[in-house]
Amino acid sequence: MKVGERRKKVIIDTDPGTDDAMAILVALRSPELQVLGLTTTFGNVHTAVATRNALHLALGLDPSFPKKIGQIVLLGGAFSVNGNVNPAAESNMFGDPDAADIIFTCGADVLAVGINITHQVLLSDADREKLEHS
Ligand SMILES: *[C@@H]1O[C@H](CO)[C@@H](O)[C@H](O)[C@H]1NC(C)=O
Repeated sequence: MKVGERRKKVIIDTDPGTDDAMAILVALRSPELQVLGLTTTFGNVHTAVATRNALHLALGLDPSFPKKIGQIVLLGGAFSVNGNVNPAAESNMFGDPDAADIIFTCGADVLAVGINITHQVLLSDADREKLEHS
């Protein structure tokens, strides 16, 4: 990143897991990103319903809300591989298909990173050690 360039401001909505932990670690150490905050979800029904309601709440108050978001980057979906819940479904999409529908149809710029990525980017013990000492 060159001097004077602005860091991209991001909010990370996360559930506990290795993939999320990796994303948070990389984001916090990235010179290109400024992590404004972390929000958490545990993937239970109450949280999924609350998230869906919040998205409904936000869109109802300001229909142009999706256009004001720079980009939504999400880890979810099984596009060219089997899912991790069943052969057709990935956990995040399976857990709250209504929220996924809202995200993909609200008009925001959405970048979906499918589960196939997690098959190729692995966190080794050596990587963990490197992170611990960096
Ligand atoms: C993951 O799957 C998508 C959709 O098929 C594909 O565009 C992308 O290149 C794949 N990524 C990797 C790392 O295999």
